[in-house]
Amino acid sequence: MKKKVTTHTILKMKRSGEKIAAITSYDFLSTKLIDETGIDLILVGDSLGMVIMGYENTIPVTMEEMIHHLKAVTRAKPSAMVAGDMPFMSYQASVEDAVRNAGRLVKEGGAESVKLEGGRRYVPVVEAIVHASIPVIGHLGLTPQSLHQMGGYRIQGRDDESAAGMVEDAAALEKAGCFSIVLEGIPSDLARRITEKVSIPTIGIGAGADCDGQVLVLNDMLGIHDRPLPRFVKVYDSLGDRIRNAVGEYVEEV
Ligand code: KIV
Repeated sequence: MKKKVTTHTILKMKRSGEKIAAITSYDFLSTKLIDETGIDLILVGDSLGMVIMGYENTIPVTMEEMIHHLKAVTRAKPSAMVAGDMPFMSYQASVEDAVRNAGRLVKEGGAESVKLEGGRRYVPVVEAIVHASIPVIGHLGLTPQSLHQMGGYRIQGRDDESAAGMVEDAAALEKAGCFSIVLEGIPSDLARRITEKVSIPTIGIGAGADCDGQVLVLNDMLGIHDRPLPRFVKVYDSLGDRIRNAVGEYVEEV
């Protein structure tokens, strides 16, 4: 069995040049299976709103839904580190809200770290959560909770000004105490720049191969989806078709 992955393990992996493999999970049995692969980081992402709950986007996801799925995942006692996403409006209104809600993900859900979207303006939030002894993962680039502000799911950091701003955001998040940063939907040369600039690991999704690690949404990479996937997603299986065929065969036999 793999040794328990902690923040120290994740930080050490960047220093030794070992890539970090991360994936989302939302339930007990999937987590057990995933953990047997030696995965480093399991993220109970607010993507559960779309792939589990059937919402249009991640915005309606509640703290209760996050805690419910975190409980299922952490009950599997994975060796991988478990991170819980802070859902929309659980940390935007005030620093106090943010600390209390991060605390709930840890205390009630069993998360070992939390992830939140946003750059420099969330420095006070990150600092306060870290002061409460909760490890934080930052999230820059295409941040799905800002869907309406971004005007859709668009690649971010294409122009010089926004790219430079994102490099500053990453440095600010590191200084505030984040132990890693997810980079989503940004050009690969920008992801490389950020990865070289910060000493904490970057974990990419649609950000090229030069990040310190990669993360994928489990359902997407297994081929269980009801909408077109982003182009960067590598689909490793067609489990959706296989479920349809298996259940179809059963129905026929009955
Ligand atoms: O919600 C999520 O699953 C995420 C990952 C895609 C990084 O934020």
